Amino acid sequence: ARLGIIGVPFSKGQGKGGVEKAPALLREHGLVPLLEQVSCGQLEVHDYGDLQFGVDPIPTEAPEYSKIKNYGEFMGCNKALIRKVQQLLQENDQFLTIGGDHAIGFGSVAGHLQHTPNLSLVWVDAHADINLHNTSESGNIHGMPVSFLLKELRVFWQHAKLEQTAPVCLAADQLVYIGLRDIDPYEAYILNKLGIRAFAMDSVDKYGISKIIERTLDSLKPQNKIHVSFDIDALDKAVAPSTGTAVCAGLTLREGISVVEALRDTNRVQGIDLVELNPSLGNEQDVNTTIASSLEILKSICGYKRSGNFANIKMDL
Ligand code: ARG
Ligand code: MN
Ligand code: MN
Ligand code: MN
Repeated sequence: ARLGIIGVPFSKGQGKGGVEKAPALLREHGLVPLLEQVSCGQLEVHDYGDLQFGVDPIPTEAPEYSKIKNYGEFMGCNKALIRKVQQLLQENDQFLTIGGDHAIGFGSVAGHLQHTPNLSLVWVDAHADINLHNTSESGNIHGMPVSFLLKELRVFWQHAKLEQTAPVCLAADQLVYIGLRDIDPYEAYILNKLGIRAFAMDSVDKYGISKIIERTLDSLKPQNKIHVSFDIDALDKAVAPSTGTAVCAGLTLREGISVVEALRDTNRVQGIDLVELNPSLGNEQDVNTTIASSLEILKSICGYKRSGNFANIKMDL
């Protein structure tokens, strides 16, 4: 199979600089050869470099959304990403988007939906990222990408021209959250109102990660392809300290790996995001720890088996 990788060094979805350095840093740490290695030759990795954005002469503005910081830059970047993801899916079987902050989750999933309308989305995150322009307290658009994807919330984005840029919507019953532990009040209301499946950390503690994984897989339509949007802040601060909005008491690395292994084993994962790794935060050890965790998650999504891979070994025994 072929995996296409696109780096999206976008950082304007939140206030902290440095998150734009993650794609280059992960490449420096050998991301591409690592993913080819762990798949035992099953995966051909094609790196498309970084997305070119911000080259639009007229940035998309909407005075109605003036409470949002960098709305024009957000739309410009995501429009380019929507087109790019479609190209990646024409030329590959799977794609990986490396952020950047989670604002790019909109373009990554919207581009995926454009190619594959029957899509399920697993959003692994400490946060729900489903704020609207008028519910966000921070004005940071990395806290809003999911709200652009759902038909039920499009009424709040009437000035965003989404019928042109992202006409295919995600079905609310095909969205599952894992790892939540910092949900804003209006977000909680939206999740509840739309009946969205959300496994927050209290459920993980109550039922254990294997039960949560089972219930997640049960709720995804078996004929659908899967998009996994992994915010590194889903993991506990101990294993992912270098991120902009860290929240304590998150998933252990093993729980995070278990989640992505189970999704991978469906053979239906077609799109992956890895976002919010910020190498400018924390000390050198924090950064190295967060890079190592990011690589472990990506390895497992791309085929690394803790129980051993032997699919391609040929010998007489
Ligand atoms: N809910 C908060 C907000 O809307 C935090 C969002 C954090 N999002 C993230 N992708 N890390 O500002
Ligand atoms: Mn295809
Ligand atoms: Mn988050
Ligand atoms: Mn997020």
